[in-house]
Amino acid sequence: MTLDISSVLQGGYNHPLSRQWQSRRGLDKSMFMYPIFITDDPTARVEIPSLPGQCRWGVDRLEGFIGPLSRKGLRSVILFGVPLKCEKDARGTPADDPQGPVILAIKKLRALFPALFVATDVCLCEYTSHGHCGILHQDGTIDAAPSAERIAEVALAYAQAGAHCVAPSDMMDGRVRAIKRKLVESGLGNKCLLMSYSAKFASGLYGPFRYTHTHILSLSLSRTYACVLLRRLSLLSSSHFRDAAGSAPSFGDRKCYQLPPGAKGLARRAIQRDVTEGADIIMVKPSLPYLDILADAARLAPDYPLAAYQVSGEYAMVVAGARAGVYDLRVMAFETTESIVRAGATLILSYFTPQFLDWLEA
Ligand code: PBG
Ligand code: ZN
Repeated sequence: MTLDISSVLQGGYNHPLSRQWQSRRGLDKSMFMYPIFITDDPTARVEIPSLPGQCRWGVDRLEGFIGPLSRKGLRSVILFGVPLKCEKDARGTPADDPQGPVILAIKKLRALFPALFVATDVCLCEYTSHGHCGILHQDGTIDAAPSAERIAEVALAYAQAGAHCVAPSDMMDGRVRAIKRKLVESGLGNKCLLMSYSAKFASGLYGPFRYTHTHILSLSLSRTYACVLLRRLSLLSSSHFRDAAGSAPSFGDRKCYQLPPGAKGLARRAIQRDVTEGADIIMVKPSLPYLDILADAARLAPDYPLAAYQVSGEYAMVVAGARAGVYDLRVMAFETTESIVRAGATLILSYFTPQFLDWLEA
């Protein structure tokens, strides 16, 4: 029997160090951007039940919250507004309220932590009465041009407040161009980075981010009946219905603007479109079910940083599996994150960021 030496691979990764050399890039702290939820009660620190370990924070709490993370090597955050007290309307007026939680948080974080990179999610759904990410026609369909214009206005307000990065998550046609143009016209073109949620799919994995009562609706109870019933049974108060951001649409869904899960071609076109419209970073979201899209993005936009968002439902899934004894949390957090980097991401938006700051401590 002749020995087939080319079949012997194990010698190549027998040692912990040689195993490390097998990755093109290892994880490091600077790859992580931490999504944080800012609410309009300045002293709030409210845990989000469906996102274990994550809270809604008031502006006055940011120093105590971010300080220790910054000392452990946190480099960047992305802010989500969770307005609970404001008057929502059809065009999302509270989105760029100068006294709103996001603008106050940008200023606070910039003042407290000069070395921290502050990104902001830009969307209207947290601020519109109907909960959709754009401005609607009478018949409830998206009105594209005013949507892009309004989103650009909000992005500019965040940039003027000091955000290093604006990241539109709405998936409206033309919004990347509208934002870039507005930044340039306002003299911020060379100061503010535009990270586009380019390939954002209509996914079931945003559940914890939205209202929990979407699940109650899916039991085919009418919404009013479900609310009355549950209140009467004192199972849930109205505040429990709203999970992380309280941004579920009040009718319809987001399938006319977020991409269909099977749509590889459309995702590739959206990525190429955003490159030509002036995006500085391309993002794919969610991450794990869409690693092929991430790999496509790495080939379509090789000269751009590439972001992946491991979204709320992915995080909740990893945590739930670990709690159910299916696997070790840390092992699975590393495995999912390393697979995202392997597929081509250079930046990961991750709710595991605080834990990675500990885990990556040499
Ligand atoms: C709002 C927005 C969503 C997320 C980021 N921005 C929810 C959605 O589009 O329904 C998802 C974040 C997460 O689930 O972690 N446009
Ligand atoms: Zn939205």
